[in-house]
Amino acid sequence: MIYLDNAATTFTKPAEVYGAVAAAMKSMTSPGRGGYASAMRAADTVFRCRETAARLFGVTSPENVVFTMNATHALNIAVRSVVRPGMRVITTPWEHNSVLRPLRAAGADICPVRAELFHPDSALESFDEMTRRGAGCAVLCHVSNVFGCVLPLDEIAQVCRMRGIPLIVDASQSAGCEDIDMEALGARFIAMPGHKGLYGPQGTGLLLCGGDAEPLLYGGSGSASELETMPAFLPDMLEAGTHNVPGIAGLLAGLEYVLRRTPAAVRRHERELLRQTARGLSEIGGVTVYAPEDPARQTGCLSFTIGDMGSERAAEELGEMGIAVRAGLHCAPMAHRWAGTAPDGTVRVSVSDFSRRSDVAALVSAVRKLTKSKG
Ligand code: ALA
Repeated sequence: MIYLDNAATTFTKPAEVYGAVAAAMKSMTSPGRGGYASAMRAADTVFRCRETAARLFGVTSPENVVFTMNATHALNIAVRSVVRPGMRVITTPWEHNSVLRPLRAAGADICPVRAELFHPDSALESFDEMTRRGAGCAVLCHVSNVFGCVLPLDEIAQVCRMRGIPLIVDASQSAGCEDIDMEALGARFIAMPGHKGLYGPQGTGLLLCGGDAEPLLYGGSGSASELETMPAFLPDMLEAGTHNVPGIAGLLAGLEYVLRRTPAAVRRHERELLRQTARGLSEIGGVTVYAPEDPARQTGCLSFTIGDMGSERAAEELGEMGIAVRAGLHCAPMAHRWAGTAPDGTVRVSVSDFSRRSDVAALVSAVRKLTKSKG
Protein backbone atom coordinates (compact mmCIF):
# COMPACT_ATOMS: atom_id res chain seq x y z
CA MET A 1 0.00 0.00 0.00
CA ILE A 2 1.12 3.54 -0.75
CA TYR A 3 0.12 5.48 2.33
CA LEU A 4 -0.81 9.11 1.75
CA ASP A 5 -3.09 9.65 4.75
CA ASN A 6 -0.51 10.98 7.17
CA ALA A 7 -2.75 13.85 8.28
CA ALA A 8 -4.93 11.19 9.94
CA THR A 9 -1.96 9.42 11.57
CA THR A 10 1.57 8.76 10.40
CA PHE A 11 1.90 5.09 9.60
CA THR A 12 5.64 4.67 9.10
CA LYS A 13 7.40 5.65 12.32
CA PRO A 14 11.13 5.95 12.98
CA ALA A 15 12.49 2.44 13.79
CA GLU A 16 13.32 3.54 17.37
CA VAL A 17 9.62 4.19 18.07
CA TYR A 18 8.59 0.54 17.58
CA GLY A 19 11.51 -0.59 19.76
CA ALA A 20 10.71 1.90 22.52
CA VAL A 21 7.05 0.79 22.74
CA ALA A 22 7.98 -2.90 22.98
CA ALA A 23 10.77 -2.22 25.51
CA ALA A 24 8.43 -0.17 27.71
CA MET A 25 5.84 -2.94 27.72
CA LYS A 26 8.48 -5.41 28.84
CA SER A 27 10.28 -3.28 31.44
CA MET A 28 8.05 -0.52 32.80
CA THR A 29 5.02 -0.26 35.09
CA SER A 30 3.37 2.96 36.33
CA PRO A 31 5.16 6.22 37.20
CA GLY A 32 4.55 7.75 40.62
CA ARG A 33 3.05 4.56 41.98
CA GLY A 34 6.14 2.98 43.61
CA GLY A 35 9.88 3.27 44.21
CA TYR A 36 10.80 -0.08 42.65
CA ALA A 37 12.84 -0.36 39.47
CA SER A 38 10.07 -0.80 36.87
CA ALA A 39 8.07 2.14 38.29
CA MET A 40 11.19 4.32 38.42
CA ARG A 41 12.05 3.45 34.81
CA ALA A 42 8.52 4.49 33.81
CA ALA A 43 8.79 7.74 35.81
CA ASP A 44 12.12 8.55 34.17
CA THR A 45 10.76 7.92 30.65
CA VAL A 46 7.63 9.98 31.28
CA PHE A 47 9.70 12.87 32.63
CA ARG A 48 12.17 12.71 29.73
CA CYS A 49 9.26 12.84 27.30
CA ARG A 50 7.93 16.00 29.00
CA GLU A 51 11.42 17.52 28.93
CA THR A 52 11.95 16.72 25.26
CA ALA A 53 8.56 18.16 24.27
CA ALA A 54 9.30 21.26 26.37
CA ARG A 55 12.60 21.70 24.52
CA LEU A 56 11.03 21.24 21.07
CA PHE A 57 8.13 23.62 21.72
CA GLY A 58 9.75 26.31 23.90
CA VAL A 59 7.82 25.47 27.08
CA THR A 60 9.54 26.92 30.15
CA SER A 61 8.89 23.98 32.48
CA PRO A 62 8.42 20.26 31.68
CA GLU A 63 5.58 20.23 34.26
CA ASN A 64 3.56 22.36 31.84
CA VAL A 65 3.57 19.52 29.31
CA VAL A 66 0.50 17.33 29.94
CA PHE A 67 -0.13 13.90 28.40
CA THR A 68 -3.51 13.30 26.80
CA MET A 69 -5.07 10.58 24.66
CA ASN A 70 -4.96 12.72 21.51
CA ALA A 71 -5.35 16.33 20.34
CA THR A 72 -9.13 16.19 20.76
CA HIS A 73 -8.74 15.32 24.45
CA ALA A 74 -6.22 18.16 24.84
CA LEU A 75 -8.54 20.65 23.10
CA ASN A 76 -11.46 19.62 25.30
CA ILE A 77 -9.42 20.43 28.42
CA ALA A 78 -8.32 23.76 26.96
CA VAL A 79 -11.83 24.82 25.94
CA ARG A 80 -13.32 23.72 29.27
CA SER A 81 -10.69 25.78 31.10
CA VAL A 82 -11.30 29.04 29.26
CA VAL A 83 -14.66 29.17 27.47
CA ARG A 84 -17.91 30.10 29.24
CA PRO A 85 -21.49 30.10 27.86
CA GLY A 86 -22.14 33.04 25.54
CA MET A 87 -18.43 33.90 25.22
CA ARG A 88 -17.44 35.41 21.88
CA VAL A 89 -14.77 33.07 20.53
CA ILE A 90 -12.79 33.88 17.38
CA THR A 91 -11.86 30.92 15.19
CA THR A 92 -10.89 30.42 11.56
CA PRO A 93 -13.12 28.87 8.88
CA TRP A 94 -10.74 25.90 8.78
CA GLU A 95 -11.50 24.41 12.19
CA HIS A 96 -11.89 20.69 12.76
CA ASN A 97 -14.79 19.27 14.77
CA SER A 98 -12.31 18.74 17.60
CA VAL A 99 -12.46 22.53 18.03
CA LEU A 100 -16.02 23.21 16.86
CA ARG A 101 -17.80 20.56 18.92
CA PRO A 102 -16.21 21.38 22.30
CA LEU A 103 -16.91 25.07 21.62
CA ARG A 104 -20.54 24.30 20.77
CA ALA A 105 -20.87 22.13 23.89
CA ALA A 106 -19.44 24.97 26.00
CA GLY A 107 -22.11 27.33 24.62
CA ALA A 108 -19.60 29.61 22.85
CA ASP A 109 -20.60 32.24 20.32
CA ILE A 110 -18.38 30.94 17.50
CA CYS A 111 -17.13 33.73 15.21
CA PRO A 112 -14.92 32.60 12.30
CA VAL A 113 -12.67 35.17 10.66
CA ARG A 114 -13.17 35.89 6.96
CA ALA A 115 -10.14 34.32 5.35
CA GLU A 116 -9.47 33.43 1.75
CA LEU A 117 -7.81 30.10 1.14
CA PHE A 118 -3.99 30.49 1.07
CA HIS A 119 -4.17 34.21 1.87
CA PRO A 120 -2.80 34.52 5.40
CA ASP A 121 -2.97 38.32 5.19
CA SER A 122 -6.75 38.19 4.80
CA ALA A 123 -7.02 36.00 7.92
CA LEU A 124 -4.83 38.36 9.93
CA GLU A 125 -6.69 41.47 8.77
CA SER A 126 -10.04 39.94 9.67
CA PHE A 127 -8.69 38.64 13.00
CA ASP A 128 -7.41 42.08 13.88
CA GLU A 129 -10.71 43.68 12.95
CA MET A 130 -12.84 41.12 14.82
CA THR A 131 -10.79 41.21 18.01
CA ARG A 132 -10.98 45.03 18.09
CA ARG A 133 -14.67 44.49 18.90
CA GLY A 134 -13.64 42.28 21.86
CA ALA A 135 -13.39 38.53 22.32
CA GLY A 136 -13.32 36.14 25.27
CA CYS A 137 -10.71 33.99 23.57
CA ALA A 138 -9.37 32.76 20.24
CA VAL A 139 -9.26 29.06 19.35
CA LEU A 140 -7.69 28.24 16.03
CA CYS A 141 -5.75 25.76 14.00
CA HIS A 142 -2.20 26.49 12.86
CA VAL A 143 -2.63 24.48 9.65
CA SER A 144 -5.90 23.27 8.04
CA ASN A 145 -6.33 19.48 8.07
CA VAL A 146 -8.16 19.70 4.71
CA PHE A 147 -6.21 22.18 2.59
CA GLY A 148 -2.90 22.42 4.45
CA CYS A 149 -3.14 26.23 4.43
CA VAL A 150 -0.88 27.79 7.05
CA LEU A 151 -2.34 30.46 9.34
CA PRO A 152 -0.15 33.44 10.36
CA LEU A 153 0.16 32.19 13.93
CA ASP A 154 2.97 34.49 15.11
CA GLU A 155 1.08 37.59 14.01
CA ILE A 156 -2.24 36.34 15.40
CA ALA A 157 -0.56 35.60 18.73
CA GLN A 158 0.87 39.11 18.74
CA VAL A 159 -2.63 40.58 18.35
CA CYS A 160 -3.85 38.34 21.20
CA ARG A 161 -1.02 39.46 23.49
CA MET A 162 -1.68 43.11 22.65
CA ARG A 163 -5.41 42.79 23.42
CA GLY A 164 -5.11 40.36 26.37
CA ILE A 165 -7.07 37.61 24.59
CA PRO A 166 -6.27 34.03 25.67
CA LEU A 167 -5.11 31.99 22.68
CA ILE A 168 -5.72 28.25 22.25
CA VAL A 169 -3.88 26.66 19.31
CA ASP A 170 -4.77 23.41 17.59
CA ALA A 171 -1.36 22.28 16.30
CA SER A 172 -2.64 18.93 15.04
CA GLN A 173 -1.23 19.36 11.54
CA SER A 174 1.77 21.54 12.37
CA ALA A 175 3.51 19.96 15.36
CA GLY A 176 6.74 18.43 14.09
CA CYS A 177 6.87 20.29 10.79
CA GLU A 178 6.29 23.96 11.65
CA ASP A 179 8.23 25.98 14.24
CA ILE A 180 6.21 26.40 17.42
CA ASP A 181 7.48 28.32 20.43
CA MET A 182 5.00 28.38 23.30
CA GLU A 183 6.78 31.10 25.26
CA ALA A 184 7.25 33.42 22.28
CA LEU A 185 3.60 32.96 21.27
CA GLY A 186 2.36 33.53 24.83
CA ALA A 187 -0.44 31.02 24.13
CA ARG A 188 -2.68 29.88 26.94
CA PHE A 189 -2.78 26.34 25.54
CA ILE A 190 -1.35 24.46 22.56
CA ALA A 191 -2.91 21.06 21.79
CA MET A 192 -1.35 18.42 19.53
CA PRO A 193 -1.50 14.72 18.74
CA GLY A 194 1.51 12.53 19.50
CA HIS A 195 0.74 10.19 16.62
CA LYS A 196 0.98 12.50 13.58
CA GLY A 197 4.04 14.71 12.98
CA LEU A 198 5.65 13.67 16.26
CA TYR A 199 5.68 10.02 15.11
CA GLY A 200 4.45 8.51 18.37
CA PRO A 201 1.80 5.76 18.60
CA GLN A 202 -1.95 6.36 18.40
CA GLY A 203 -3.46 7.11 21.81
CA THR A 204 -0.91 9.83 22.59
CA GLY A 205 -1.36 13.59 22.66
CA LEU A 206 0.06 16.65 24.39
CA LEU A 207 -1.40 19.75 25.95
CA LEU A 208 1.13 22.54 26.49
CA CYS A 209 -0.19 24.73 29.29
CA GLY A 210 0.52 28.42 29.71
CA GLY A 211 -1.24 28.36 33.09
CA ASP A 212 -3.56 26.32 35.26
CA ALA A 213 -6.49 24.45 33.81
CA GLU A 214 -9.70 22.71 34.79
CA PRO A 215 -9.57 18.91 34.94
CA LEU A 216 -11.71 16.95 32.54
CA LEU A 217 -11.11 13.65 34.31
CA TYR A 218 -10.97 13.05 38.05
CA GLY A 219 -9.14 10.20 39.75
CA GLY A 220 -5.86 8.99 41.14
CA SER A 221 -2.72 10.93 40.26
CA GLY A 222 -0.19 9.22 42.54
CA SER A 223 0.12 12.55 44.40
CA ALA A 224 -1.78 14.43 47.16
CA SER A 225 -3.74 11.19 47.75
CA GLU A 226 -5.23 12.52 50.99
CA LEU A 227 -7.33 15.03 49.00
CA GLU A 228 -10.80 14.40 47.57
CA THR A 229 -10.00 16.86 44.79
CA MET A 230 -7.41 16.78 42.03
CA PRO A 231 -3.99 18.19 43.00
CA ALA A 232 -3.78 21.92 42.37
CA PHE A 233 -0.54 21.70 40.36
CA LEU A 234 0.47 20.71 36.85
CA PRO A 235 0.74 18.18 35.34
CA ASP A 236 -1.01 16.09 38.03
CA MET A 237 -4.23 18.18 37.99
CA LEU A 238 -4.87 17.02 34.41
CA GLU A 239 -3.51 13.47 34.45
CA ALA A 240 -5.94 11.21 36.33
CA GLY A 241 -5.45 7.45 36.06
CA THR A 242 -2.71 5.20 34.75
CA HIS A 243 -0.45 6.71 32.11
CA ASN A 244 -0.04 5.22 28.63
CA VAL A 245 3.60 4.39 29.36
CA PRO A 246 4.33 2.40 26.18
CA GLY A 247 2.73 5.19 24.15
CA ILE A 248 4.74 7.85 25.97
CA ALA A 249 7.97 5.86 25.49
CA GLY A 250 7.20 5.69 21.75
CA LEU A 251 6.36 9.39 21.69
CA LEU A 252 9.70 10.17 23.37
CA ALA A 253 11.50 8.30 20.58
CA GLY A 254 9.40 10.17 17.99
CA LEU A 255 10.17 13.55 19.58
CA GLU A 256 13.88 12.74 19.64
CA TYR A 257 13.70 11.89 15.94
CA VAL A 258 12.02 15.23 15.14
CA LEU A 259 14.56 17.16 17.24
CA ARG A 260 17.45 15.49 15.42
CA ARG A 261 15.90 15.91 11.98
CA THR A 262 14.45 19.40 12.77
CA PRO A 263 10.94 20.61 11.82
CA ALA A 264 12.47 22.81 9.11
CA ALA A 265 13.96 19.79 7.30
CA VAL A 266 10.69 17.84 7.59
CA ARG A 267 8.78 20.84 6.24
CA ARG A 268 11.13 21.25 3.26
CA HIS A 269 10.76 17.57 2.36
CA GLU A 270 6.96 17.62 2.67
CA ARG A 271 6.62 20.86 0.68
CA GLU A 272 8.68 19.46 -2.14
CA LEU A 273 6.40 16.41 -2.30
CA LEU A 274 3.27 18.56 -2.22
CA ARG A 275 4.64 20.72 -5.01
CA GLN A 276 5.30 17.61 -7.08
CA THR A 277 1.75 16.39 -6.34
CA ALA A 278 0.15 19.72 -7.25
CA ARG A 279 2.11 19.98 -10.50
CA GLY A 280 1.33 16.41 -11.53
CA LEU A 281 -2.38 16.59 -10.71
CA SER A 282 -2.91 19.98 -12.37
CA GLU A 283 -1.72 18.55 -15.68
CA ILE A 284 -4.63 16.09 -15.68
CA GLY A 285 -7.78 17.35 -17.40
CA GLY A 286 -10.84 17.64 -15.15
CA VAL A 287 -8.84 17.67 -11.89
CA THR A 288 -9.09 20.70 -9.61
CA VAL A 289 -6.16 21.07 -7.21
CA TYR A 290 -6.23 23.32 -4.15
CA ALA A 291 -2.66 24.58 -3.87
CA PRO A 292 -1.12 28.05 -3.47
CA GLU A 293 1.31 29.74 -5.86
CA ASP A 294 3.70 30.13 -2.94
CA PRO A 295 4.50 26.65 -1.54
CA ALA A 296 5.34 28.19 1.86
CA ARG A 297 1.60 28.71 2.39
CA GLN A 298 0.84 24.98 2.48
CA THR A 299 2.02 22.26 4.84
CA GLY A 300 1.48 18.52 5.00
CA CYS A 301 -1.59 17.99 2.83
CA LEU A 302 -3.48 19.12 -0.24
CA SER A 303 -6.98 18.53 -1.53
CA PHE A 304 -8.27 17.84 -5.03
CA THR A 305 -11.46 16.86 -6.84
CA ILE A 306 -11.96 14.95 -10.08
CA GLY A 307 -14.72 16.50 -12.21
CA ASP A 308 -18.12 15.35 -11.01
CA MET A 309 -16.79 12.08 -9.60
CA GLY A 310 -17.70 11.97 -5.89
CA SER A 311 -14.69 12.29 -3.59
CA GLU A 312 -15.58 9.11 -1.66
CA ARG A 313 -15.83 7.15 -4.88
CA ALA A 314 -12.52 8.52 -6.15
CA ALA A 315 -10.79 7.56 -2.89
CA GLU A 316 -12.35 4.11 -3.03
CA GLU A 317 -11.04 3.58 -6.56
CA LEU A 318 -7.60 4.83 -5.54
CA GLY A 319 -7.75 2.43 -2.58
CA GLU A 320 -8.39 -0.41 -4.99
CA MET A 321 -5.26 0.67 -6.86
CA GLY A 322 -3.30 0.42 -3.59
CA ILE A 323 -3.25 4.10 -2.63
CA ALA A 324 -4.55 5.23 0.78
CA VAL A 325 -6.01 8.75 0.89
CA ARG A 326 -8.88 10.31 2.84
CA ALA A 327 -12.01 11.71 1.18
CA GLY A 328 -15.18 13.53 2.23
CA LEU A 329 -15.46 16.32 4.78
CA HIS A 330 -12.45 15.33 6.94
CA CYS A 331 -14.37 16.22 10.15
CA ALA A 332 -14.12 19.87 9.05
CA PRO A 333 -17.51 20.76 7.51
CA MET A 334 -17.08 24.51 7.90
CA ALA A 335 -13.80 24.41 5.94
CA HIS A 336 -15.55 22.75 3.00
CA ARG A 337 -18.51 25.12 3.13
CA TRP A 338 -16.14 28.08 3.14
CA ALA A 339 -14.03 26.76 0.27
CA GLY A 340 -17.09 25.75 -1.78
CA THR A 341 -16.29 22.03 -1.68
CA ALA A 342 -19.30 20.98 0.47
CA PRO A 343 -21.27 18.77 0.63
CA ASP A 344 -19.20 16.20 -1.24
CA GLY A 345 -15.80 17.30 0.05
CA THR A 346 -12.45 16.56 -1.53
CA VAL A 347 -9.83 13.86 -1.84
CA ARG A 348 -6.95 14.66 0.52
CA VAL A 349 -3.33 13.63 -0.01
CA SER A 350 -1.11 13.97 3.05
CA VAL A 351 2.60 13.24 3.32
CA SER A 352 5.15 12.67 6.07
CA ASP A 353 8.90 12.68 6.42
CA PHE A 354 8.83 9.05 5.29
CA SER A 355 6.86 9.66 2.08
CA ARG A 356 8.86 9.40 -1.14
CA ARG A 357 8.74 11.00 -4.56
CA SER A 358 7.75 7.62 -5.98
CA ASP A 359 4.65 7.52 -3.70
CA VAL A 360 3.45 10.82 -5.08
CA ALA A 361 4.29 9.81 -8.66
CA ALA A 362 2.21 6.64 -8.19
CA LEU A 363 -0.74 8.72 -6.95
CA VAL A 364 -0.57 11.07 -9.95
CA SER A 365 -0.42 8.19 -12.36
CA ALA A 366 -3.36 6.43 -10.62
CA VAL A 367 -5.48 9.62 -10.87
CA ARG A 368 -4.57 9.89 -14.56
CA LYS A 369 -5.69 6.29 -15.11
CA LEU A 370 -8.89 6.92 -13.19
CA THR A 371 -9.85 9.96 -15.23
CA LYS A 372 -9.12 8.07 -18.47
CA SER A 373 -11.15 5.01 -17.50
CA LYS A 374 -14.13 7.13 -16.39
CA GLY A 375 -13.85 9.64 -19.23
N1 ALA B 1 -8.03 14.95 12.04
C1 ALA B 1 -7.53 13.82 11.36
C2 ALA B 1 -7.74 13.93 9.88
O1 ALA B 1 -7.87 15.00 9.39
C3 ALA B 1 -8.01 12.56 11.93
O2 ALA B 1 -7.79 12.95 9.18
